[in-house]
Order: sequence, then C-alpha cells, then structure tokens
Amino acid sequence: MADLPTKSLRYQELADRLSALIQQGTYPSGERIPSVREMSRQQGVSISTVLQAYYLLEDQGLIEARPQSGYYVRAQLAQRLPEPDISSPRRDPSQVSLHELVMIIMRDSLNPGLVQLGAALPILDAQVTQKINRIISSLAREKGLKAHQYQFPPGLMALRTQIARRAVNAGCSLSPSEIQITSGGTEAISLCLHAVCKPGEIVATESPCYFGTLQMLEVHGLRALEIPTHPREGISLEALEFAIEHNPIKAVVVISNFSNPLGSQLPDEKKKALVELLARHDIPLIENDVVGELYFGEKRPLVCKSFDTKGLVMLLSAFSKDISPGLRIGWVAAGRYQAEIEWLKFTLSASSPTVPQMAIAEFLESGGYDQHLRRLRREYAHNANLMSDAVMRYFPEGTRLTRPSGGFVLWVQLPENVDSLELYKVALQGGITLTPGHVFSATYQFSNFIRLNAASFTYPIERALERLGGMIKGLAGS
Ligand SMILES: Cc1ncc(COP(=O)(O)O)c(C=O)c1O
Repeated sequence: MADLPTKSLRYQELADRLSALIQQGTYPSGERIPSVREMSRQQGVSISTVLQAYYLLEDQGLIEARPQSGYYVRAQLAQRLPEPDISSPRRDPSQVSLHELVMIIMRDSLNPGLVQLGAALPILDAQVTQKINRIISSLAREKGLKAHQYQFPPGLMALRTQIARRAVNAGCSLSPSEIQITSGGTEAISLCLHAVCKPGEIVATESPCYFGTLQMLEVHGLRALEIPTHPREGISLEALEFAIEHNPIKAVVVISNFSNPLGSQLPDEKKKALVELLARHDIPLIENDVVGELYFGEKRPLVCKSFDTKGLVMLLSAFSKDISPGLRIGWVAAGRYQAEIEWLKFTLSASSPTVPQMAIAEFLESGGYDQHLRRLRREYAHNANLMSDAVMRYFPEGTRLTRPSGGFVLWVQLPENVDSLELYKVALQGGITLTPGHVFSATYQFSNFIRLNAASFTYPIERALERLGGMIKGLAGS
C-alpha cells in the first residue's frame, strides 16, 4: 500500500519534466523521444513508470506512438495545419446526380487489395463481435420460432426500451413507443425524407454534406440547397434563415454531432437556436446522430431533439459505427411524423430482421456497451490525432485539415490545383483508395478535397499516406 502513492507521483513527475522539455523546445515537434528502455535507464525509474508517463503525455496530446517506430513529439495546436474556411456553396437548389461516381467508389471500397483510406468503415472490436456472436447462437437455441417471426412496426420492444434509456444521456426523454426500428441509419434517412417531402421539393443540407444523404435526395427526386457550414461549429444559422426566407424549404437535414465529413459539432446553444428557427417556420429537422456516441470530449453531447417542443425533430441513429454495420440496425424518433413513419416502414419493408434486433437489445442490456464505447472513443481520438500528424508531415504546403471533435473521419483540403478525382485515379494505381470531395456536394464544389477514414492507424496506413502525399505533390506541381 505504502509505495502506491510514491509510484503514481513518480510517473506524474516524469511526465511533468518531459512536458516542460517539450514546451521549451528541448524535444521539438516531430522529434523522436528516448525509447521506454532508454528513458528508464536515463532516469533510474522502472519501465512501467516510464510507460505510465508516456501514456499520460499521449492522453495530453503531447506525444504520439508511431507504429514500429517509437514515441514522437506531436505538433502543438499553433503549429498544426489551418482548417478549411466556412464553405460557400451555390445559393440556389440543385438536382443531385452522383450515383455513378458513388457506385465506383463503393466497389473500390470492397477491394481487399487496396489500402482503404476512404470508406467510413468502423473498427470492428473482436471482443464485442464475439460476444454478439455468442448472443446470436444462444438466441437461436433459446428463442426458437420467436426469433423467426416478423417484428412489425415499431419493432422489438426490448430494443426500443434500451434506446429510450440511452437517449436520456443525449438530453431526450423518449418513450419506447416514440421509436421506430429501421434497417440502419440509411433506411431511417429515407423514411424521414419520404414522410415529409414530395419529388421536386427542396431540402436544406450542410455543405459539405454526407453523400448518403445526397444519394437519398437523388433517389427521392428532391433538390439540395447546400448551406454554408463552419468546419467546427456546423451549419450557419444566418445563412439557413436567409435560405428559408427565399426558398420553400420542406426539410433540413443535419448531423448535429460530428458531421461526416467535417467532424463538426453544433454547440448546444446553436442546436437550440436551430430548433427554434425551424419551429418558427414549421419546418421539420432530420437530425442524424449516427456517431453521437463517438465524442472525444468529456461527455455525451446533447441532440437538437432535446430542445424540441413541437415534435418537429426527427432524430435518427444506428448501431453501425459502434457495434456492427452488418447487423443493419438503426432507429428513428420522428415526433409528430411517427405514425407516418410506421406506415412507410410497414409498407416498404414490413419489418427489420428480428435476430439482430434481439441481439443488440441483449448486448445493451448486458452492460458491456459503455465500457466498449469508452475504449472506442479513446482509440478514434488517438487515431485521428496520429493521422492528422501524418497528413501534416507528408502532404504539401497549402493543405488544410479539419479538427474533428468526434467520429472518425478527416476532411482534407488540398492545394487549389489538385483535382481529387485525378488523385483518386492515381492513388488507385498505387493501391490506395480514398473518397474524393466531389461526392459531398450536388454541385461538385469540393473538387480539391478528400475524406480520409481515421478509424485505424497502422504502419501500412502511414506508408500509404506518405505515398499519397507524394502523389499530391506531383499533381500540385504539374
Ligand atoms: C453520417 C452517416 N449517416 C448514416 C450512415 C449510414 O448508416 P447505416 O450503415 O446504419 O445505414 C453513415 C455511414 O457511413 C454515416 O456516416
């Protein structure tokens, strides 16, 4: 007992000393610091003390572990790449026609021979996957015929109850009866648009906008009105208000927490103001919170739905990014549109598969979810930092980069003369795939941007980024 406090002080003292050396520039940014073994010898402390000190410095964002290479001093905020400016999309609505490009990118994302830097594939946690597999096996044994019956709208009660309980953390008090289970977030977006818009009508979106939303507008024959969006604080309410006053907007779609691709988060007061603005105009808000649980900060951010007093917010989410994309389970709490959504769900697909609903309900009930989320958040935040530093190291001057506050994607602005579709082709020849900025706008306005998946950061990924940086330099120079 007696030496515990001393030990904990020792590693903190060591971390403080190293932190001071980093701040003074003795160890400048990008420099390798002594290995754990060297440091232990140098300072006369145990390996575990050094490791604890290094973990603490990593958590403080001062150093990073690079795969197979050691610990390096991270660039400090002031030295990091600038962020992209707030976007300035066209002021009139556009038809969407992105499907050909999207399908090419989708096919390449299935190619195991390519380094996948593009598709927003989450990390699949082996422990969680094994646990879900065990649950599925026991469901098959124990539930018998029940596991094979329909789950007509609104879906499995046990799952809706779990979702309603978790929604409290995001500031919502929902009853299970207000929730409809869907086949992933994708179906939830589609049902919401279907419920409130007719072909030819206008929907306001963020800019850049998640291409799945744009695809859905294309399928439903809706027009996109892209609204200027800040890389950290999300959609501009002033611009949205102006757009509402000049266009018959039928719905607004936002990702309030950690937009794809910006990683932006609407601050709470802006969420409230957005809900109030739309309530004044009686416009429904489709709020996508698919990655809301994947925050890098201290606590779960609120959702716009928590400020909704008129039932105008249709909150949707899914378990695709934190449990399993393959189980295809999402949900929507659609406020005053709930009955319409249930009818559409029944008419268009009758039911989402029963076994995945049972499996996720049981996984949530069993209590391991929060611990898993804590691990995942740390890992995503860490990998986003590592990938940001790699972009800074390998990409040419003129590159800009977002600073996401959650999720696992990075949005990179390349020098003006680099066309990301050209880069896409060159990268493919070099065995790398990425997502070109073109697909995040109905008007292809992000032609010198790319989206990177920062969910994992391994040695091959770092080498791929180095090669990609070389290709970008080549295109920028030519
Ligand atoms: C913001 C966002 N919404 C929805 C989806 C689709 O979710 P699902 O796989 O649950 O259909 C994705 C997947 O990349 C996403 O990034």
